[in-house]
Amino acid sequence: MPSPVLAVNELKMSFGAAEVFKNVSFSVAPGETLGLFGKSGSGKTTIGRCIVGLEKPTDGEILVHGKNILAMGKKEFRDLRPKIQMIFQHPETSLDPRMKAFDSLVEPLRVRTGLKKAELLEKAEKLAELTGLRPEHLARYPNQLSGGEIQRVVLARIMSLSPDFVVADEPTSMLDVSVQAQILRLMQKVQRETGVSYLLISHDLDVLRKVCHRIAYLENGNITSIEDLRKKEVSKHARSRK
Ligand SMILES: Nc1ncnc2c1ncn2[C@@H]1O[C@H](COP(=O)(O)OP(=O)(O)OP(=O)(O)O)[C@@H](O)[C@H]1O
Ligand SMILES: [Mg+2]
Repeated sequence: MPSPVLAVNELKMSFGAAEVFKNVSFSVAPGETLGLFGKSGSGKTTIGRCIVGLEKPTDGEILVHGKNILAMGKKEFRDLRPKIQMIFQHPETSLDPRMKAFDSLVEPLRVRTGLKKAELLEKAEKLAELTGLRPEHLARYPNQLSGGEIQRVVLARIMSLSPDFVVADEPTSMLDVSVQAQILRLMQKVQRETGVSYLLISHDLDVLRKVCHRIAYLENGNITSIEDLRKKEVSKHARSRK
């Protein structure tokens, strides 16, 4: 077994007196898609936000390449941050409405690398090719793009930073079924070409079963089982103590 890109150990989260989850443990191997299934309000988005550092859990560990991000200094986490990215549920809020798709796409690279216009253009062309976007898409504002095209721009922008790990929080739930399938296939293609790992969050088991290698089930604040779709068996998660 290759060492995991991400390991979450006994993560616990409460907002005030309200406990959202108390024992969440799983790991994700390089190039693997782990599904995270749970009903609305079970804490899926909160787990994703903890992994990318937008939320601080009450207790537990989040190891990226074996290092606990919760124990890291600010600079160490800042340097690591491009390697762990998140795609959010609502495509329309992911892009700045005042920026053309091209500018949104190259913004993180421009800020982090200081590449010149010609170099950014070249990178954008490669990323557009990877994600199936045409030059005319990149010349448009978000309100001139479909939901599926926006998710392609979002994926292209995220991949510009060569992440090892992407949390995809219901990336297709706002899209109609045929576009949903296209975006899921695109994510699989990007994974084959780059080796990126995904945590794919969804309340739709059909979606997860189509694309995931394994699925973690979040119930009553615990990961109650992890289903391995490569072996077609359910292994009961050993850590069921509270
Ligand atoms: N910042 C916050 N402050 C207080 N409570 C919060 C906060 N963020 C989330 N919660 C609560 O934590 C619980 C889990 O929310 P979360 O958004 O993680 O669920 P989810 O599984 O993603 O649901 P959905 O499937 O509807 O997206 C909910 O009860 C929510 O109200
Ligand atoms: Mg959610």
